[in-house]
Amino acid sequence: MVLLPGAAGAVLFLTGVVSLSLLPLWLGLSVLGGVAAALLAFFMVRWKDHQARMLGRTLQEARQGKWVAELQRIGLDIPLPWSDFSIAPDAACILVREVLVQQPEFVLECGSGVSTVLIAHCLKRLGRGRLYSLEHEPKWAQQTRRLLRAAGLERNAVVIDAPLVARQVEGRSWDWYSKFERQLPDRPIDLLFVDGPPPQKEGRRRSSRYPALPLMADRLSSKALVLLDDVRREGESRMIAAWTRKYINADVTWFRTERGLAALHRTPEEPDEVLSNPLEQASLSRAPRHDSARRWSTPL
Ligand SMILES: C[S@@+](CC[C@H](N)C(=O)[O-])C[C@H]1O[C@@H](n2cnc3c(N)ncnc32)[C@H](O)[C@@H]1O
Repeated sequence: MVLLPGAAGAVLFLTGVVSLSLLPLWLGLSVLGGVAAALLAFFMVRWKDHQARMLGRTLQEARQGKWVAELQRIGLDIPLPWSDFSIAPDAACILVREVLVQQPEFVLECGSGVSTVLIAHCLKRLGRGRLYSLEHEPKWAQQTRRLLRAAGLERNAVVIDAPLVARQVEGRSWDWYSKFERQLPDRPIDLLFVDGPPPQKEGRRRSSRYPALPLMADRLSSKALVLLDDVRREGESRMIAAWTRKYINADVTWFRTERGLAALHRTPEEPDEVLSNPLEQASLSRAPRHDSARRWSTPL
């Protein structure tokens, strides 16, 4: 009877000693387990994000495929080098439609590529008009010229080498196309497509494309159409408000494409009799000249 508590005490003592001696091992295993669990969670989240991105990309490609098929109906018989740099097929459908409806004589484009071939093809089909495409990158200009030649469109479009140089606009310096003015026809621009130059280091809030209207608004025809791609980006979207406030009276349509496309249909200046009323004049000068509030439209 006396031996029993003694034995129990000994067992307890030995267990304590063993547990204590294994403590570093338990601690090590716990830390390792924690690190492994954290790593597993990290990679699972990364994998989930990757899968979500892949799915998004696949859906986007499927959606864009529909617009590529739509474009094939216009009968262009050369495959186009679609890329993340080029206009997306949904916006390209709108561009094509607007060119065919507007029937421009003089189209000016900032940034050449797929869109150059599409616009030139429309002009050939219309049997009128010519496109002048400004390109700052000589290699890319060559590439677009090759495409135009292959599609038999050299007579409908010309790609102008226009290196970027610093220009002062509204008291700030911007990189803008140069050495192109003398190569343009001496007539107003009916359609201006702004898809370049590419973003520089100014970041999201300032778009490299802003100078297009400050520098060229006075060359636009009275019924000109201005198309601006990528207006889902902050810089481009803010630009529209500034343009319509300072440089152009226009009805703005926002197309709900993958990257967002805006169409600015130039409207006549306010008639003189409205401006001659001093009260109305005061209110006009306070308010933006045109409501450029977002009204997203469907692609077609
Ligand atoms: C937004 S892209 C213009 C795209 C053009 N409007 C089109 O639809 O293909 C602006 C500039 O990026 C450059 N660029 C176009 N495609 C490119 C590519 N695949 N790789 C590198 N640069 C490219 C050209 O200098 C072009 O002027």
